[in-house]
Amino acid sequence: MGLLSCVVPLLLLLCGAAPLEAAPAKSSYLPGTGRFWHITDLHLDPTYNLTPDPTKVAPPLKESRPPTPACSETSCVTHPTASSNSPPHVPAGELSTDLVVQDQMPTSTNAVYRAAAELWRPWLQNEALLTLSQGGFYSQLVKPGLRVVSLNTILYYGPNKKHNERLVSIFRKYSDIIAGHFYGHTHQDSIMVLLDQQGKPVNSLFVSPAVTPIKSLLQPYSNNPAFRMYLYDTEDFSMQDIWQYFLNLTEANERQSAAWRREYVLREAFGLADLKPLSLLKLGLSFMEQSTAFDSYFKHFMVGYDTSFTCGGACKISQVCAMLYLDQLSYSRCVEKGGW
Ligand SMILES: *[C@@H]1O[C@H](CO)[C@@H](O)[C@H](O)[C@H]1NC(C)=O
Repeated sequence: MGLLSCVVPLLLLLCGAAPLEAAPAKSSYLPGTGRFWHITDLHLDPTYNLTPDPTKVAPPLKESRPPTPACSETSCVTHPTASSNSPPHVPAGELSTDLVVQDQMPTSTNAVYRAAAELWRPWLQNEALLTLSQGGFYSQLVKPGLRVVSLNTILYYGPNKKHNERLVSIFRKYSDIIAGHFYGHTHQDSIMVLLDQQGKPVNSLFVSPAVTPIKSLLQPYSNNPAFRMYLYDTEDFSMQDIWQYFLNLTEANERQSAAWRREYVLREAFGLADLKPLSLLKLGLSFMEQSTAFDSYFKHFMVGYDTSFTCGGACKISQVCAMLYLDQLSYSRCVEKGGW
């Protein structure tokens, strides 16, 4: 539904550096460019079985409804394809003896928040650790002028769309100081543009595909495992580019060995001058025309899982509407109109 109401997005205002050997060919050190990795949605599968027989690695799905991306780790966001949010991807009873309440996390401290805070202890200051253990969210100054805000959006998740509208309106209000939005949870790779009330593009949002592949019973596609690196300008913290990496599972299964490779570089893949909201809005609008750009976007959406699957008609409309309309009302209007 173009909703941003599920878990722990990083409203990044950035940080970090990463090894250069991961750089795409021909690009060496880029002066004035900082880098950080986004690795998201690693799911525990307690029933995983290491065996040479690929049909016996995982048991058949037992849940009657489709498994949906979980929100228990570092980043999460809803998306047209995310129909609900179940903390485990396996039936609750197989994960622990505790009662698992679907789609909800407590608003006060609990064992999950405390464990997350413990895991993040090496990187977070006391104030951030305190709010993480109490509410599953934190904010931390990375350096003067740059703050990371990690939201626990599962707190706002639910049928009440008012929470989503409020979040979007807060994003609009502060869009001039938000250098980037970084999400996960959907397991797929997508881009969104935040428009203000007048329809002016004000922020670029990026949804990183997942390390863990997931396939819902209702979806004809899945995702190849993936992670990415963001490049940003160290002066004004604007996003410069994305280097997307992936593991071709089909190939890995054929060869019995895993080779992680670069999938694409965002600006190069779509001929973008920059990743500013206006450029991404123009890209989204160009998808309506008969062009190969949308096919390539959708191929990346699945992380190259199935190159024969084409997304047209209602599939394409919901993709493009989700890219351009984050609030429920304009998203629904877009879908009803069958376009924008
Ligand atoms: C993945 O590997 C298979 C088998 O080698 C190949 O047919 C397919 O094109 C590859 N997909 C991508 C996205 O590279």
